[in-house]
Amino acid sequence: MTEAILLVGGKGTRLRPLTVHTPKPMVPAAGVPFLTHQLARARAAGVEHIVLATSYLAEVFEPYFGDGAEWGLHLEYVTEEEPLGTGGAIRNVAHRLHSGPDDPVLIFNGDILTGLDIAALVRTHRETSADVSLHLTRVEDPRAYGLVPTDGTGRVTAFLEKPQTPEEIVTDQINAGAYVFNRSVIDAIPQGRPVSVERETFPGLLESGAHLQGMVDSTYWLDLGTPQAFVRGSADLVLGHAPSPAVPGRRGEHLVLDGADVAADAKLSGGTVVGAGARVGAGARIVGSTVLADAVVEPGAQIHDSLIGAGARVGARTVLHGAVIGDGATVGADNELRDGIRVWCGADLPAAAVRFSSDQ
Ligand code: GTP
Repeated sequence: MTEAILLVGGKGTRLRPLTVHTPKPMVPAAGVPFLTHQLARARAAGVEHIVLATSYLAEVFEPYFGDGAEWGLHLEYVTEEEPLGTGGAIRNVAHRLHSGPDDPVLIFNGDILTGLDIAALVRTHRETSADVSLHLTRVEDPRAYGLVPTDGTGRVTAFLEKPQTPEEIVTDQINAGAYVFNRSVIDAIPQGRPVSVERETFPGLLESGAHLQGMVDSTYWLDLGTPQAFVRGSADLVLGHAPSPAVPGRRGEHLVLDGADVAADAKLSGGTVVGAGARVGAGARIVGSTVLADAVVEPGAQIHDSLIGAGARVGARTVLHGAVIGDGATVGADNELRDGIRVWCGADLPAAAVRFSSDQ
């Protein structure tokens, strides 16, 4: 049985303030810590042994997931004293693997929501006798990503840093954050110092003539690294656009967790999640958004594509569009917050303090 490493130690800076108190993989998506979806999908593909490579806020993972038995898994945790980067983190957990030198080991970034056919990636790896196989996905605008061109057989020909000019956009294939490594390749990563698998290990392997195989799988794929992407991913899980066996409840326009209190005439749609202990007041309208546990949305608030942190409060008639409200923050009544604005954890915004439009 193939075993897996999950990289969950990043600081998640792009996702702040959601990641101030909570590491990115533990931020709830569709009502459960995002990592739950990845674990459930790996388990459904037949993976049983998973080693979590932790660093930032490492102490919160084990109390929640324990030995993994509840998910039918055997979970282990290895914490870096100093962050070792993606490659260093992989090397640092190698001693917990049971695989032999020629066995394949799955490796997943901890912030990707995807319908990838995991078994097919392992199959491709075996059939092509590759040293490393990578899930590649096609994106419309590849400028923000490292590009991974392949030849006619799917063999990787280069790793290109973020392209700056149109001529440099030689492919729309990007590294999708799921790999199969032969165990011996993991053991060859330098130990005890930071290593980036994307910037050092992969280009180095290519240089030395190793066989890196790409598998383009154009199923659902989203990097949940930014607040807007995270909210989108959660909504897609609730709507059933993104696959996961771990969504607690039926797919549909909204997911209201046990212990939440939603006024009868409030309108929830577009994959909105309301967490345990949260309250939504009369006439509030919430579209494609996440309201975390114990948050309060007061009457008449209008919320689109936004995330309300745990215990935060959104005042009456306030409008949020693409906003993130940190845990425990208060946004007073009659504010209008838009365009990716981030209200920090615990901040207190008075009533009618911020507007985008000039009307009353
Ligand atoms: P940003 O700070 O917003 O870029 O997010 P990030 O820290 O998660 O970095 P990035 O998205 O590049 O990381 C890709 C994956 O590798 C994520 O699942 C991270 O949790 C993980 N990761 C990144 N750096 C480390 C590290 O030093 N140690 C461990 N164990 N995991 C890491």
